[in-house]
Amino acid sequence: MPTMNLVPVTADDYRRIAERKLPRFLFDYVDGGAFQEVTLDRNRADFEAILPRQRVMRDVSGVDTSGTLADTPATMPVALAPVGMGGMLARRAEVQAKHAADTAGVPFTLSTVSICSMEEVAAVSDKPFWFQLYMLRDRAIVAELLDRAWGLGVRTLVFTVDLAVVGERYRDVRNGIAGGVAGWSKLRAGPMSYAAHPGWVLDVGIKGKPHTFGNLATYVPAATDPTQYREWVGRQFDPSVTWKDIEWLRGIWKGKLMIKGVLSSEDARSAVSAGADSIVVSNHGGRQLDGVASSISVLPDVAEILSGSAEILVDGGVRSGLDLFRARALGADGAMIGRPWAYAVAARGEAGVTGLLAAFKRELEVALALCGVTCLTEVTRDLVSRRQVFH
Ligand code: FNR
Repeated sequence: MPTMNLVPVTADDYRRIAERKLPRFLFDYVDGGAFQEVTLDRNRADFEAILPRQRVMRDVSGVDTSGTLADTPATMPVALAPVGMGGMLARRAEVQAKHAADTAGVPFTLSTVSICSMEEVAAVSDKPFWFQLYMLRDRAIVAELLDRAWGLGVRTLVFTVDLAVVGERYRDVRNGIAGGVAGWSKLRAGPMSYAAHPGWVLDVGIKGKPHTFGNLATYVPAATDPTQYREWVGRQFDPSVTWKDIEWLRGIWKGKLMIKGVLSSEDARSAVSAGADSIVVSNHGGRQLDGVASSISVLPDVAEILSGSAEILVDGGVRSGLDLFRARALGADGAMIGRPWAYAVAARGEAGVTGLLAAFKRELEVALALCGVTCLTEVTRDLVSRRQVFH
């Protein structure tokens, strides 16, 4: 997109605007991946290598993209993925994104390490949202988080399993904010701080405003500053978690359990045995172990192994409605998007996310129609092929 005056449409349009708007360290925190970012690029490249097979002369009047994800009605098969610290990208960004998800009729997932608390997000509307959990060493805190979420109407718990340790993200290292839960110390005065971007002063400890630590605010010791908070969260992450801990989780969580971060058919099977209703095939958007396979390339094997025993979502590199079509064709029930909504909310706030999701929907409708089908259940494996130039 050559100028900022044009109307942004695609995830990439929003990305470019976000790049101009955000302080460098924050844009890099969202945009970057682990190590050499090989998997980050592969997530995209492998989607692009899947060719939709155009089919013609069928009656495609009345295309319908709707369905459900984890029992939540969805106008199209996509959910907003949890994005930690997402609330730094625009004023109360998680609230803005939840509004947009409601408007579009798709699920929104709130990260454990959000800026806006679950109470604040729940106040947006009666429409339910999903809550993402990282296992914390202090299980009493986990139990209380789940109680709070349940009380607010959350019925889908997204338990993330691919962050036993945090992948080294070199852009964050270079920018001096490495450690996963990024950015806090930069929020104070200085050229890279929000003070340099007055439009988005958040109540995170700037100019005498109180810090907000989202969902975890009540558990953080008094007088903690943002840097200490980051360290506190780092200490709370529990790398000793195994499938056995899911039994405990299953015992206290009565709603749907979605296990996010599975990248092999063996682990997919273990997740279902441990009680998962849904799994998300994911490499955390290329932010954890660089070099691993793209999530879309693992999807067909996982779909085959599970053969309908659990719902399957996929994320990592989904950038359009056409990608939703590709994911469905390869065996996913739906997909999640992380960076696309993060870019959109950074670029244009709620309107950005609304616009992005509208574009996804239009694109999915066109993809269905031009592949000769009218609903999601008709999107089968034979509607895509692998890119190759001659046999
Ligand atoms: C994430 N992701 C993530 N996942 C999670 O379970 N909890 C979290 O707090 C976060 N935080 C987070 C922050 C940022 C800035 C990004 C970009 C991603 C991973 C996210 O949910 C999702 O798996 C990926 O973003 C999907 O890849 P794409 O759509 O970004 O390519």
